[in-house]
Amino acid sequence: MKHLLGLEELSAAEITRVLDAAEGFVGVGVGDVPKRDDLKGKVVVNLFYEPSTRTRVSFGLAARRLGADTLDFTPGGSSTAKGETFIDTARNIEAMGVDAVVVRHSSPGAPHVLAKHLRPHIRVVNAGDGAHEHPTQGLLDIFSIRQRKGRVAGLTVGLVGDIAHSRVARSNIHGLIKLGAKVIVCGPTTLVPPEVARLGVEVAHDLDAILPRCDVLNLLRVQFERQRSGLFPSIREYRLLFGVDGDRMRRAKPDVLLLAPGPINRGVEITPEVADGPSSAILDQVTNGLAVRMAVLSLLCRAGQ
Ligand code: CP
Repeated sequence: MKHLLGLEELSAAEITRVLDAAEGFVGVGVGDVPKRDDLKGKVVVNLFYEPSTRTRVSFGLAARRLGADTLDFTPGGSSTAKGETFIDTARNIEAMGVDAVVVRHSSPGAPHVLAKHLRPHIRVVNAGDGAHEHPTQGLLDIFSIRQRKGRVAGLTVGLVGDIAHSRVARSNIHGLIKLGAKVIVCGPTTLVPPEVARLGVEVAHDLDAILPRCDVLNLLRVQFERQRSGLFPSIREYRLLFGVDGDRMRRAKPDVLLLAPGPINRGVEITPEVADGPSSAILDQVTNGLAVRMAVLSLLCRAGQ
């Protein structure tokens, strides 16, 4: 692995290698567990052209806990406002002597463009490109499943909601199927593109019908900001058909694991009492994200040294 652009490009063995490496980074830099120097002397830049809380903060913290210097770029207040292109911005930041670029962009393929245009020693990590992929989110979701369930192979994972606009769905689908899970995507017909079936998933539109079969439910956020209007009649109807509340939880498997990539629309995809309840691993996912991102940065930056 030179870059991490998507889980589609990785083999099952490579995904497992990252997950196994992440086990060794759980808790690094917290309490009595010392920081590490895997990235000592390295510079990691967050190049985020879209808003983020979890991904941007945890990449920054992960890099610092491994001894790197970090830079944060957001377009607001930058020379993007004067018309500087994405590539020129990245090449100018590269010229300051960075080793890894963590990039989030609304255009699918933006990280691939950087990987092609930046100098060969620079590592590029995709932190979300349009509706294409969000590989570290996929990895941390799978890590959280493995942590709570002890395995991935043989589990049935329901990805529920806005599949059409979800890069998290695509990374989950590629990663989970490679590791031997069964994936069911479920949502309104307008939010589940029929071609997703080509990725090897089962397509469903009735959450209550698939609920008793799912070991894990990953509740995707309705991405109001990426949607044209009219994809479903109302938030109330979406909540009634696809929202997970206490009543649906009673009809799910007793040990069902609930994930959500965040941010969550409380009261839409999930009610507050379920989001904060014992079946939810939503905040564990965030904690695990640090370990997964430390593993990714360490594996990439140390590769070929
Ligand atoms: N899950 C996720 O990518 O969250 P952020 O958009 O806050 O980074």
